[in-house]
Amino acid sequence: MKTPRTIVVGITGGIAAYKAVNIVRAFVLNGDSVHVIATPAALRFVGKPTLEAISRNPVHTDLYEGVAEVRHVAIGQGADLIVVAPATANSIAKIAAGLADDLLGNTILASTAPLVIAPAMHTEMWNNPATVANVAVLRSRGITIVGPGVGRLTGTDSGAGRMEEPDTIVAVALAVLDRAMPAGEAAASAVPDLAGRRVLISAGGTREPLDPVRFLGNRSSGKQGVALAQAALARGALVTLVAANLEVAVPTSITTVLVGSALEMHEAMTRAAGTADVIIMAAAVADYRPRSVQVGKIKKEDVGDTLTLELVKNPDILAELSTASRPGQLIIGFAAETETDADRLLALGRDKITRKGCDYLVVNRVGQDAGFGTERNTVTVLDRHGVIVNEVSGSKMSVANCILDLIG
Ligand code: CTP
Repeated sequence: MKTPRTIVVGITGGIAAYKAVNIVRAFVLNGDSVHVIATPAALRFVGKPTLEAISRNPVHTDLYEGVAEVRHVAIGQGADLIVVAPATANSIAKIAAGLADDLLGNTILASTAPLVIAPAMHTEMWNNPATVANVAVLRSRGITIVGPGVGRLTGTDSGAGRMEEPDTIVAVALAVLDRAMPAGEAAASAVPDLAGRRVLISAGGTREPLDPVRFLGNRSSGKQGVALAQAALARGALVTLVAANLEVAVPTSITTVLVGSALEMHEAMTRAAGTADVIIMAAAVADYRPRSVQVGKIKKEDVGDTLTLELVKNPDILAELSTASRPGQLIIGFAAETETDADRLLALGRDKITRKGCDYLVVNRVGQDAGFGTERNTVTVLDRHGVIVNEVSGSKMSVANCILDLIG
């Protein structure tokens, strides 16, 4: 059984406070110990009994309760992670200024644990220069900001400011925590080592249209690419995801460009590559596409008993980006191989990195039982000389973090 970690969830006074109940519940179900600090304003939106029942711990609000146990610093000192969700414009301003006029402020100041903040406010408040400056201060201190998303707000209006979905906040927060405390070890440095780096990731599998209703595709779910995007976000990177036909949801705080075919992915990656510091091609790109796409549905009576498709080669996006890369830009490719013999698998990887010209190649075996669509992955990472620099087996999130460790 894993050792429970201590997560402090700070809830401040915004309407999205009711959604914080789901965040607390997800952490508890994950086996972590959760302590809620709700501001008095938060308790106007969500009931203390609800939070106590869900967190299975007393909910603290008042700075002057539990003074004998020096609670105003004890909670922060004991935390492995602090998540503030929702974080109002006011609470963000207070955290940026280092104010300690309530229990949450004291707890944050007294803690060395990583901090994850999920802002929630109206668009005008989010865009206000004061908030923009406060958020920039928090980011510069290595604090992870999740969201806000864009969508319907409390009233009839919509725009940026909606609290990120609880599932996403939980996924990012756990990624931050896993990084700070790998496999239950004592808290290590949680430095957001990719802060401000622009990371461009492709994920999923392209679909090459045959006619308006049919395509040639592959079994990639996009899970590894999305895990990379989430892990990079948790490490402070500015992430752009070029996503082809994903089977998994993407946090709305990740800038996502949706594409369908290899040609669309080629265009989107080429356009975004110019400003990227790091490019990771995790997508399964079709090597060939039908020479022509039928305008109407292909009909059996028009074709007969056999159908021959003529396919033409797609651009090799990874090879092109590697050739065009600018100094200092790091390019990482994947090699999806069905070879089961470990030595032959490595030989294929070495051959592929020479052809592609990228800096690193993540070699993974794929097939019905491995790689595509599964929750775990086993990979070997080669450098441009074909030397093994890492071998990892684990969840797609832990594989993602090992890949991101390559970015110096
Ligand atoms: N890739 C690409 N453009 C393509 C095909 C592949 O950018 N048209 C990228 C993939 O995203 C991956 C790497 O190249 O990062 C290797 O993909 P893989 O399918 O393993 O290799 P291929 O180049 O397609 O070669 P083969 O299918 O012959 O193994």
